[in-house]
Amino acid sequence: MSHVTTATLIQMKQQHEKIAVLTSYDASFTSLIEDAGVEVILVGDSLGMVIQGQESTLPVDVEEMVYHTQCVARGRRKALLIADMPFMSYSSAEQALGTAGRLMKDGGAHMVKLEGGATQLETVRQLTANGIPVCAHLGLLPQSVHKLGGYRVQGRDDESARIMKEDALALEAAGAQMLVLECVPTGLAREISEALEIPVIGIGAGPGCDGQVLVIYDMLGITPRQLPRFVKNFLPSAHSISEAIAHYVKAVKDGSFPGEEHSFK
Ligand code: KIV
Repeated sequence: MSHVTTATLIQMKQQHEKIAVLTSYDASFTSLIEDAGVEVILVGDSLGMVIQGQESTLPVDVEEMVYHTQCVARGRRKALLIADMPFMSYSSAEQALGTAGRLMKDGGAHMVKLEGGATQLETVRQLTANGIPVCAHLGLLPQSVHKLGGYRVQGRDDESARIMKEDALALEAAGAQMLVLECVPTGLAREISEALEIPVIGIGAGPGCDGQVLVIYDMLGITPRQLPRFVKNFLPSAHSISEAIAHYVKAVKDGSFPGEEHSFK
């Protein structure tokens, strides 16, 4: 595999080849993830929960994201590297430019991810106008957990589904080059994936997306919490962490993950 770029991912979508994505927070896991042929690595602000033991992603700051992005960048070889913009680090387009600049120049990220729909359009326009590739994130927005009233499936009623689809199209028109859909009913996620030209990566969004992402600690069962319904622990049926990651990639590629038991109606 040569270096993965946004053009590679668009081509994969056009050729109906599923995109495998995993989170990573350090160089060692990144090296194993690379060996398994994962196309995209996300330095998620989920590190607040799985690395730092926080209750949510809200306490994570820009310095911590830069540090973990640097660690991952040292283990990266071919995958596209995305870094999350943490909570309250992109409240204005100007602030977002500063944060994205840190994550790309100091961290080594190739793309930044931000949460939100209509309210983020101007920020997405400004970032892309400055040569910063953007991955948008709709559905369950962990940084808005207190506003949403918990970690719940989003887009179940007609009105919220309509708004989510409109937001997805508007984010693409504003320049977003990838979209993550989190905890969205299978039918809606499929509809959005088919409506967009950019790759749509699902987590708890069913099998109709162009690719899948999981938190690496979750797919290895390394958590004191109960795993969410949309996660599969790939470690018990493997002999090693490397084999578990390889099984995840194979399952995403052949469409056997996520199954109905990992998806929402
Ligand atoms: O922070 C994260 O790991 C994420 C993924 C769950 C998509 O945003």
